[in-house]
Amino acid sequence: MAEFPAYLAVIGHPVAHSLSPAMHLAAYRSLEINACYTGYDVEPERLRDMVNAMRTLHFRGFNVTIPHKTAIMDLLDECTPEALRIGAVNTVYEKDNRLIGDNTDGLGYVASLTHELDVDVKGKRVLILGAGGAARGIADALCLAGIDTLWIVNRHLEKAVHLTEQLTIHHSAPIFALETGKWPDTGIDLLINTTPVGMHGHLSEELPIATDRLNDRMVVSDIVYRPKVTPLLAAAEQAGAKTHGGLGMLVEQGALAFEKWFGVMPPVSVMREAALQEMQKERSS
Ligand SMILES: NC(=O)c1ccc[n+]([C@@H]2O[C@H](COP(=O)([O-])OP(=O)(O)OC[C@H]3O[C@@H](n4cnc5c(N)ncnc54)[C@H](OP(=O)(O)O)[C@@H]3O)[C@@H](O)[C@H]2O)c1
Repeated sequence: MAEFPAYLAVIGHPVAHSLSPAMHLAAYRSLEINACYTGYDVEPERLRDMVNAMRTLHFRGFNVTIPHKTAIMDLLDECTPEALRIGAVNTVYEKDNRLIGDNTDGLGYVASLTHELDVDVKGKRVLILGAGGAARGIADALCLAGIDTLWIVNRHLEKAVHLTEQLTIHHSAPIFALETGKWPDTGIDLLINTTPVGMHGHLSEELPIATDRLNDRMVVSDIVYRPKVTPLLAAAEQAGAKTHGGLGMLVEQGALAFEKWFGVMPPVSVMREAALQEMQKERSS
């Protein structure tokens, strides 16, 4: 009897430019897994119907992207402690007919820093630009990994203050909110941009940091991956800093989601290559 494939997907709005289908399908091909992965553009008012449809069709799991990462939490049977702390879900898996929401964004970020630069974040002083959804996941994972101190700089200071308060409930590292333009008195080891500034379509926006602060003792990381080298990373390279782009986070969060669905880690290099090829196709079309 023919075996049906496992069904997986990413849901978002819009979703057309997602690199996830290419990455996951490449991993299935490489491991000869009988599975399909597709992108579904789901308008917010159809999210409940979509989740019900996926339950009925026994999806093994799915990824969730903007704007559904928080709204989906109420439609699932359970969320992991990580997802609850972060307040967002990017990965859903099925277990005993229950849909469980998880979040692999922050752990994916830390994994990519370790795998690409061999950087151990333990004991590091870290400054994050931005206090949105991505910042929440990354900050949580960095605190879990044992950073020394965290500063969060945000355009609207109150959002940085709120995030700081939430993180402090669960983590013991000192965490401070700072206004844009302010800088910690002590030096920092790792600077992470989690704002969209520098992304295609946001290139004219001003970086929320003076680039003369960058130096060759720092790692500078930008989670934006279109373009590959953002203005922040270009300035960091000039300053002699080690640089880290956003594609690795995307690939590693996808690899961790894959592990939830199939119980093994996928070939991360295959997924990365597929994502790069997809981006190349976009540029030449
Ligand atoms: N590499 C990956 O895997 C990955 C994963 C997730 C997200 N991302 C990227 O990360 C970025 C943020 O995503 P998100 O989900 O966190 O978005 P979000 O929840 O909307 O948060 C955006 C943050 O950026 C700040 N911001 C926006 N425009 C700004 C500007 N012109 N100047 C200064 N600050 C600005 C916002 O500040 P206010 O609070 O003041 O508005 C907010 O703190 C996006 O570019 C996304 O593509 C990458």
